[in-house]
Amino acid sequence: MQNDWYDEGNSNSVWRSRSKEFYRRFSDKIWLPLLSAVFTATSRSSVRLLFFVIFMLAAVFLSTRLLDATVPTIIENPSSSSLDPTNTVQIQPTVDPLTSKKPSENDQRTKTVKNEPTITQVIAKKPPKKIEIPLKCISGNLTKTCPADYYPKKIERHDEEYTSDASQNCPEYFRWIHEDLKPWKETGITEEMVLSAKRTANFRLVILNGRAYVETYEKSFQSRDVFTLWGILQLLRRYPGKLPDLDLMFDCVDWPVILKKSYSGPDAVAPPPLFRYCSDDSTLDIVFPDWSFWGWPEINIKPWGSLLKELEEGNTRTKWIDREPYAYWKGNPIVAETRMDLLKCNVSDKQDWNARVYAQDWLKESQQGYKQSDLASQCVHRYKIYIEGSAWSVSDKYILACDSVTFVVKPRYYDFFTRGLMPVHHYWPIKEDDKCRSIKFAVDWGNSHKQKAQEIGKAASNFIQEELKMDKVYDYMFHLLTEYSKLLKYKPTIPEKAVELCSESMACSSEGFEKQFMMESMIKGPSPINPCTMPPPYEPQALKSLLRRKTDSVLQVEKWERGYFENQNNNP
Ligand SMILES: *[C@@H]1O[C@H](CO)[C@@H](O)[C@H](O)[C@H]1NC(C)=O
Ligand SMILES: *[C@@H]1O[C@H](CO)[C@@H](O)[C@H](O)[C@H]1NC(C)=O
Repeated sequence: MQNDWYDEGNSNSVWRSRSKEFYRRFSDKIWLPLLSAVFTATSRSSVRLLFFVIFMLAAVFLSTRLLDATVPTIIENPSSSSLDPTNTVQIQPTVDPLTSKKPSENDQRTKTVKNEPTITQVIAKKPPKKIEIPLKCISGNLTKTCPADYYPKKIERHDEEYTSDASQNCPEYFRWIHEDLKPWKETGITEEMVLSAKRTANFRLVILNGRAYVETYEKSFQSRDVFTLWGILQLLRRYPGKLPDLDLMFDCVDWPVILKKSYSGPDAVAPPPLFRYCSDDSTLDIVFPDWSFWGWPEINIKPWGSLLKELEEGNTRTKWIDREPYAYWKGNPIVAETRMDLLKCNVSDKQDWNARVYAQDWLKESQQGYKQSDLASQCVHRYKIYIEGSAWSVSDKYILACDSVTFVVKPRYYDFFTRGLMPVHHYWPIKEDDKCRSIKFAVDWGNSHKQKAQEIGKAASNFIQEELKMDKVYDYMFHLLTEYSKLLKYKPTIPEKAVELCSESMACSSEGFEKQFMMESMIKGPSPINPCTMPPPYEPQALKSLLRRKTDSVLQVEKWERGYFENQNNNP
């Protein structure tokens, strides 16, 4: 609905028909007895047995891999090192050995490992073992049920050993979490307030003791709700026992609805807390990462984790200097007037504004399986335009990830991370009401300040690769939900019409791209490191000066632009 080239990508039939069984459950028969032996061995500190088992495990794993080489399995992720069996432990269904395990046993293990010759030293160099908890799919009628007592309630980690970067600070943009929750800082959040947000919500989510319950009010457009919930379930898999109880309303529609002005003044009531994907300066909706981070099956947009790696590679294919020296945009123009206006800046016989803009041919794209829309092959212009559609566009991250200079046409909306971007440092601001001239100047500026232009492109792609990688997206969700739950003035209970939701009930029975993307974005086990450390709220003065710096940079660019055209008029 509101991205660039892929807007209106409603072609269910295409992706459904490409249904393919990507998912293969790991053979419990081979793994689990051996794994339980590992646990037993560890707890008895019977070192010889342990290494024998690990050795056997490696052998079994390798032979299984050879037999099964053509079929991706659920714990396979090409980008992850967790395939190494010596470093991976899968958890057994119904048993919870980790909570009872004392850290000292791990210490002991590491210590003894050092005394053993060759093979064990290889193991000793590895980081501590990862725990994997495969999906526990049940065939037949029960595919929609959640396994009871399967997930560990809590994983005890010995911090010194596991959390190498425990004290890592969260990115600066996390500070906006405090701002977004400020309207309830004094009042707290009552159940009545939550219920008052029901008016437009697609679903209500309750988390109780690490389990998720959802009451659906209205199905969302495409699979937005599905992948948003999937993301929250993965957060629960990533940080078991860490997420507090909570109760929230989520609206999957584009536009923010909680008007600031309706909730200000002396007699104002507290606003309804409502989660959605974007907000703007006149609304109080709480921003949350959008569904596309876990995949967008309708138009074959992969989960962000794997896409980010492809984008990184795609970025290296053509050096900035060898890219087309124009500003590129491709998208669906009819969703917004401002996009129709952008089309006027296209090159023609009479005029060249340095823009090359294209309207997406939806039908053709879907027939060709979106080959023309391969995001990783789109870093071939020095400048790329970001322009909002009907609201914010999920394409911002894909465009910023190219180290081309992003031209941001003055946006109205923000999503959870865009407030962390600085004009002229991360992107180049383009005037909304004078796009063509603004683009013309920006391209000329960049082509004559190549070093500076490349720095802007790099700052953006670094931001995306570092501060917006999946780890950080999960940490943002973690901190937002944690801070939100601190405001709740009641103990959440399971709504009458809610159903329990778990990764099993969503993924086991799904198919096609939906299944593929769920498997690809599934969190395989508890994170070995803690969430990053949440930064404190902005001091009011610091926030003011930050906003002023942003405004000033935009004004500065406008001034340069005026000077450029005045100069041209004086010296034609
Ligand atoms: C599945 O459910 C139907 C009714 O809901 C029942 O008649 C059938 O026996 C069930 N099948 C299995 C394999 O449990
Ligand atoms: C913009 O111009 C290019 C080159 O002439 C053309 O191929 C393209 O279709 C034009 N875009 C639109 C939206 O008309």
